[in-house]
Amino acid sequence: MTYGSRSGAYPPASKWLHWLVAGSVLTMIPIAIAMVRVGEGPLQNTLYTLHKSFGILVLGLMVARLINRIVAGAPAPEPGLAPWQRVASSATHGLLYVLLILQALGGWLANSAYGAPTPFFGLYHLPNLMAENKGFADQVFAVHRIVGFVIAGLAAIHIAAAFQHYIGSRDRVMQRMLPRALGGD
Ligand code: HEM
Repeated sequence: MTYGSRSGAYPPASKWLHWLVAGSVLTMIPIAIAMVRVGEGPLQNTLYTLHKSFGILVLGLMVARLINRIVAGAPAPEPGLAPWQRVASSATHGLLYVLLILQALGGWLANSAYGAPTPFFGLYHLPNLMAENKGFADQVFAVHRIVGFVIAGLAAIHIAAAFQHYIGSRDRVMQRMLPRALGGD
């Protein structure tokens, strides 16, 4: 019986980074959907500031995750997973890494091209990445909206799979990423 083995768990730094990114993305996507629909006014400005700030936070956290993943690695796949499950989970995780980094960079780039400021939680403003070019901004934002919903879809699949392991198969896949205080390995 391998249940309860701590050797298969992610390192603590990987768990922290995972849950910080998860919380940020799950906060910022509903904010994005609301901000483009509420109409002009102070509420919309606040939602835009929050969306951009969480986006920049996700960019920083994802770069840290990438470095951490290269340095600390990841535990071997949970024993007992079917080959298709290993392929599906690696593909989903890899896509989420790539899309989250490109999405955040694309948002910052489009925002710069639009000539809008890029605030970070009211602490400071990030520099603009390029000179104003509204036509280019419109094109990058069109891609940004589509990729945003692709990320939301992948996140939903990722969360559903985690709960399927936790409640359905009752293996240790979820516990590998859960903090020890919440029953993680
Ligand atoms: C991983 C990070 C990000 C995700 C997942 C994300 C997601 C989204 C989504 C789903 C929308 C579409 C909302 C809708 O049309 O209903 C959106 C719009 C937008 N995002 Fe992001 N975003 C990210 C990062 C950023 C960053 C870093 C910035 C700017 C610094 C930014 C600026 C914007 C703006 C200005 C819009 C509105 C575009 C428009 O009016 O068409 N986003 N984002």
